[in-house]
Amino acid sequence: MRRPPRREGGAPRRPRVPPPEAGVERPHYRQRFAPGIGPEPIPPAAPPPPEPPADAMPLFVATKNPGKARELAAMLADAPFHVVGPELIGDLEAPAEDGATFEANARKKAIHYSRLVEHLVVADDSGLEVDALRGEPGVRSARLGGHAASDADRVRLILSKLEGVPWEERGARFRCVLAVARRGAVLETFEGVVEGRIAFEPAGAEGFGYDPIFFYEPAEMTFAEMTAVEKNRVSHRAQALERAAGWLADWARAKRR
Ligand code: IMP
Repeated sequence: MRRPPRREGGAPRRPRVPPPEAGVERPHYRQRFAPGIGPEPIPPAAPPPPEPPADAMPLFVATKNPGKARELAAMLADAPFHVVGPELIGDLEAPAEDGATFEANARKKAIHYSRLVEHLVVADDSGLEVDALRGEPGVRSARLGGHAASDADRVRLILSKLEGVPWEERGARFRCVLAVARRGAVLETFEGVVEGRIAFEPAGAEGFGYDPIFFYEPAEMTFAEMTAVEKNRVSHRAQALERAAGWLADWARAKRR
């Protein structure tokens, strides 16, 4: 097995990821995935979605994160929905996120808010599952290390728990479950998963949470080194949102018939 090289007289240098195979030349991810654009970052996001039609149905996205609501609004650009949420949710009582699975938490949130608002509701739960930690932190991803811990503290905690774990055993995934509910009942749930590995040390300044240590192999970068546009093409949340967006568009069409 390959061992991390040692620096002269110093501690072993921990490669962030294994070095590429000798003699194997691979074009940069951005050149492979965005030919013509080159290795420079892809310009930020598409223009804002067009205004929804005047008779669009309100869709309550149960999140305090305006970015998540904007992502869904962009994906629903062709469906007759008008996304509401971050501006209203602060006034509503929040449910406890104490479910044993992402699906249980997403369902709980969606049911809770669909009893408080008239609209169709979308709620999500997501987190990181690390194989060597038997799926932890999972539903505890946001709470790992206690409420006072920062994202950087949580990243350090994961790295310390994986001290000595070799690259091959550092498999991990982000999982996201979205639930759609109306009047206290769940209508459908959608899941998105993206596989990666936990890097030996953090890299990148984009994104949030565990992004600096989530190494996405097809891109040969951590999520925090990818632009938001690149991450949103492949992320667990984008996959779940895309599935939900298709279903919501069909639902809206059926309602109008
Ligand atoms: P929530 O679904 O927004 O409550 O996210 C739960 C927690 O999972 C977050 O606080 C992050 O720690 C982690 N998480 C979820 N999605 C991501 C992601 O895309 N990047 C990094 N961390 C994430």
